[in-house]
Amino acid sequence: MTSLRQTSSRLSKACARRVNTLLRPTIPIAKPVPGREELEAVRKVFESGILIQEEKVKLLEQKFAEYIGVEQAVAVANGTMALDAALKALKIDPGDEVITSAFSFVASSNCVLYQVAKPVFADIDLRSFNIDASDVAEDHEIALVEDAAQADGAEYK
Ligand SMILES: Cc1ncc(COP(=O)(O)O)c(C=O)c1O
Repeated sequence: MTSLRQTSSRLSKACARRVNTLLRPTIPIAKPVPGREELEAVRKVFESGILIQEEKVKLLEQKFAEYIGVEQAVAVANGTMALDAALKALKIDPGDEVITSAFSFVASSNCVLYQVAKPVFADIDLRSFNIDASDVAEDHEIALVEDAAQADGAEYK
């Protein structure tokens, strides 16, 4: 039978392991690294007192559209909102099926669920880790939403 002392000792060791894991140095992949110019620009926006739909947002949309090589861009707060907006623009109805990657962030299917639609998972290509969506979209004449979250302007080959 396990004594209280043994259980307590095991728990302490488990806690110590957990604390050590949390304190271990990690690569801060989500940590912003602003330079002086960025911090100055942010300071100016805060001082203007206008934090939404300010001129800077329009400028960002214009510059981003230019950078990506498209006619228009709409700034939103995050990637999840961008996907939600894209599906709303496509008028996805409740019950519609939306094909998405079986290997992605949860936002890829959450955005479908926000439309009360049904995510249908497609296998990925093991070389690119993406679904080969262009073939599917062309063969079936369905809209294609390209999710480039965290890869703005990235190109492959
Ligand atoms: C592929 C993909 N799409 C969408 C998102 C959602 O972005 P956000 O966390 O900004 O809502 C992420 C976030 O990691 C992502 O990796």
